Amino acid sequence: MKRRILVTSALPYANGDIHLGHLVEYIQTDIWVRFQKMRGNLCHYVCADDTHGTPVMLRAEQEGVAPQALIARVHGEHTRDFAGFHVAFDNYYSTHSDETRQCAEDIYRRLQEAGLIEVRGIEQYFDPQKGMFLPDRFIKGECPKCGAPDQYGDNCERCGAAYTPNELKNPYSAVSGARPVLRASDHYFFRLSDPRCQEFLRRWTREPGHLQAEASNKMQEWLGSAGENKLSDWDISRDAPYFGFEIPEAPGKYFYVWMDAPIGYMGSFKNLCARTGLDFDEWWKKGSETELYHFIGKDILYFHALFWPAQLEMAGYRTPSAIFAHGFLTIDGAKMSKSRGTFITARSYLEQGLDPEWLRYYYAAKLNGTMEDVDLNLDDFVARVNSDLIGKFINIASRCAGFISKKFNGALGTVNRKATEAFELAWREGEIAQSFERRDYARALREIMRLSDLANLYVAEKKPWEISRREGGEAELHTICSTALTLFRDLTRYLKPVLPQLAAEVESFLAIEPLVWSGEWQPLPQGHKINEYRHLMTRIDPKQITALVEANKESLAPVEPVKKEPAKEAGQAAVQTTTQPATDALISIEDFAKVELRVARIVEASHVEGAEKLIRLLLDIGENKPRQVFAGIKSAYSPEQLQGRMTVMVANLAPRKMKFGLSEGMILAASGNDSPGIFLLSPDTGAQPGMKVK
Ligand code: 2FM
Ligand code: ZN
Repeated sequence: MKRRILVTSALPYANGDIHLGHLVEYIQTDIWVRFQKMRGNLCHYVCADDTHGTPVMLRAEQEGVAPQALIARVHGEHTRDFAGFHVAFDNYYSTHSDETRQCAEDIYRRLQEAGLIEVRGIEQYFDPQKGMFLPDRFIKGECPKCGAPDQYGDNCERCGAAYTPNELKNPYSAVSGARPVLRASDHYFFRLSDPRCQEFLRRWTREPGHLQAEASNKMQEWLGSAGENKLSDWDISRDAPYFGFEIPEAPGKYFYVWMDAPIGYMGSFKNLCARTGLDFDEWWKKGSETELYHFIGKDILYFHALFWPAQLEMAGYRTPSAIFAHGFLTIDGAKMSKSRGTFITARSYLEQGLDPEWLRYYYAAKLNGTMEDVDLNLDDFVARVNSDLIGKFINIASRCAGFISKKFNGALGTVNRKATEAFELAWREGEIAQSFERRDYARALREIMRLSDLANLYVAEKKPWEISRREGGEAELHTICSTALTLFRDLTRYLKPVLPQLAAEVESFLAIEPLVWSGEWQPLPQGHKINEYRHLMTRIDPKQITALVEANKESLAPVEPVKKEPAKEAGQAAVQTTTQPATDALISIEDFAKVELRVARIVEASHVEGAEKLIRLLLDIGENKPRQVFAGIKSAYSPEQLQGRMTVMVANLAPRKMKFGLSEGMILAASGNDSPGIFLLSPDTGAQPGMKVK
């Protein structure tokens, strides 16, 4: 019986490039899908761009284009990059589509009918300057736990604390720099706390097969034990302005991007159905006998293992057969980094002339079906690909094929069945297939390389290059080479899900039908004519990797200041270049040393009667008595916010007599010409009052 399988990979956001981190997932999924298809199963692989949400909206605005134009461009780039790595979707679509809208509205209505949608007033940060509510990632401020400045609204990168944006100290909008204000708004919630959802999720996440063991444990932690109600309702709406789908009968309210993203899987499949005549309902109806698998990164498990199955179940659809989560990519043991040149885009990899199948092979060799992180060690990458693919696999054909063309007119001879025994056994036992099925590609490749070693051993022992020179050695030579090529055919079949391009070239060289994963084991038939051997794959030159890393380095070196050119013609403005320094006047280090900067603690901050802009500060810089400074920061800070915080002051500024008293220095703050706001400087945690800043 043919299995009917629908497979998805997570939808990449439509505002960024595909990079090597993304490819861990798409390559992993593509290998699995190709394997299923080779097995003779009916398997469809769909994906799409994740187009909605604030980041896409703002990015389009920044680029001065409509969001539709941005997502169309990115769709082209993503499609090109995936094709470049042989990721073969049956449909690559967009969430900004009629199909996704229909499905989203349908699911929403069914949840509403089930009494699972609730409207509730909430308070959320609003950017008064930009006129929009701010997502957590667009609010920054000081960490409420450790005081680290410029932290995002959801968690602190310095101390790791998680919190809500309302807890941030001195919050500001990352969009405009303005101080956000709390504003009330009605939001739509999916009532996950409803006992029906809780009960279902508790059961579904525990049922064997749906989740990897580690994921299932994580879910139990999130769900708590029966009777405990740990899940809160899920806010599925966002206010205008927003790029997305407006909620039916709720003008100005839009589906939150995470509400319609997984629905994009359905939308993409629906589009495939329209193109190919498949029956959508057959695959998505409750109780469907088809299989549904989602490959995802472990960071979005919560959305796929809780929200998504609950959305589907409560709306009366089928639920996923399983969620396959994987870990993150590290390169040389560390997070991808733009300054180190390891934030490598798919495009640059291909543009540097690297073979996409090298990466496919290396990832496969590292993937074992768990949620462990995958490390791309660049030295190991070179060594592994060269030794396994060139040294072990290609080597078999390159040492034997020439004799068949030269000495036997391209026709194969008999095959030595003693020498193929281990291969026949491997085929019958099907362990390699099982490993692919379980997504333990690392194990599959170990077994394939063990068989490659056996094939190489056979060739090394028989020494065809010696026999070819021996009088009367023709028959033996013919058998050795035909046997070796049969083994090579087997290895190609096993590697085909990982190396589809190479496998296609081997199929054409051996003049055989596309290799599939079924039927009785057969040697290549006697008398079968093959084509002339042409080199199949080159070795990686380590220099290519150095060049790749260089090409991806974002230089942090200071740029040489460029002197402003006077306007050439009257009326023509000098062109501003990005390398232009903030000012033309350079100072020496001695000049800079004249300014005495010290860390200061604001021990007291108060309003100044009759002053519109000033706040009076008392600053401790380790002296006997605090200094008094009048600072023009009232538009951005209240005295309460300043009390107790650390900043930096100019300590050797000549005191100045003001209307309100003596000002004995100056504190440092940033402000721009066009963007609003004043941003007080603060030292990192640990700095003490009086420390010199230099
Ligand atoms: O995390 C992400 O990159 C999301 N764009 C994934 C969405 S997957 C699915 F739900 F659409
Ligand atoms: Zn912190």
